[in-house]
Amino acid sequence: MTDHITVSDGGNGVRLLTIARPQKKNALTGAMYDALRVALEQADASGAIRAVVFAGQPGMFSAGNDLSDFLAQPGRGFSDTPALRFIRQLARTETPMVAAVEGIAVGIGATLTLHCDLVYASPSARLRMPFVELGLVPEAASSYLLPLRVGRLKATELLLLSEILDADGAHALGLVNAVIPADMLLEHALSQAARLAALPQGALAASRRLIRGDRERVEAALDAEAEAFDAQLRSPESQERLNAFLSRPRPA
Ligand code: COA
Repeated sequence: MTDHITVSDGGNGVRLLTIARPQKKNALTGAMYDALRVALEQADASGAIRAVVFAGQPGMFSAGNDLSDFLAQPGRGFSDTPALRFIRQLARTETPMVAAVEGIAVGIGATLTLHCDLVYASPSARLRMPFVELGLVPEAASSYLLPLRVGRLKATELLLLSEILDADGAHALGLVNAVIPADMLLEHALSQAARLAALPQGALAASRRLIRGDRERVEAALDAEAEAFDAQLRSPESQERLNAFLSRPRPA
C-alpha cells in the first residue's frame, strides 16, 4: 500500500492514476510500481474501465526510479523487482493508456510514455533517459521502441547521450500528440481518454493490437534489457554513479 499513487475512477470508464510524491520529484518506489501495476491489471480485468490516464504533479511527471531503491537492495538486481513487473504489465495492458506529462519526465517517467496510446505534454515537459550516464542500460523496451519511433541516430542521442527533449522537440519527433497549456493538460488527457472509452470495445481492442504491432518483439526487448540492466546494476560503475547522485551536495 502507498499513498503516493492515487487511483480515481470516473463514471465514464476512465481511470486516473496520479503519481503523488512531490517531495522526491515523483520518483517511483517499489510500492508505487506495485500500485500502478495492480491498477493496470484491474483495469484489464474489470470490463468497466476502458481507458487509463497517467498524471503527475505540477511541474513533474516523474523523476524515474527511486535511485536509493536501486542501491538499497544489493545483490537483488533488477530481474525480480516491482519495477520490472510494472514494465512487463505496461507492455501487456489491453486498456488504452494516455499520459499527461508535465515538467520532469526522467527514466521510466519518459519511457512509460512509449507504451501509451496517446501522449500530451505541457510546455514545461522535459524528457530525459539518463540510463547510460548512470552506468545502466535503457529499460521499458525503449532500446527497441525509441529507434522504431524516431530513428536510430536520434535514439542514440537520447539514450546514449541522455539529451533532454523539451515538449516541442518531443512533439516534432512524434513522441507527443500535442503540447497543451499546463492548466488544460489533465482535462484534455481525460477527455481524449473518455473518447477512447466510448468507442466500440471490440473494434478498439482489435485496432489497438494492429497499431501496436508485435508484442513479442517488445517482450523480447524487455527480457534482453532486463538481463543487461541487472548486470550493470551490480557493476562498480553504476554503484559509483548512483552514490554520486545520492550523496551530492545540497544547497544549505
Ligand atoms: N530517486 C530518488 N530521489 C530523487 C530522485 C530519484 N530518481 N529524483 C529526485 N529525487 C529527490 C532528490 O534526492 C531530492 O531529495 P532531498 O530533498 O531529500 O535531497 C528531491 O527529490 C528533490 O530533487 P532535486 O534534485 O533537489 O530537484 P531538482 O529540481 O534540482 O532536480 C531532477 C530534479 C529530476 C532533475 C533531479 O532530481 C534528478 O536528476 N534526479 C534523478 C533522475 C534520475 O536519474 N532518474 C533515474 C533515471 S534511471
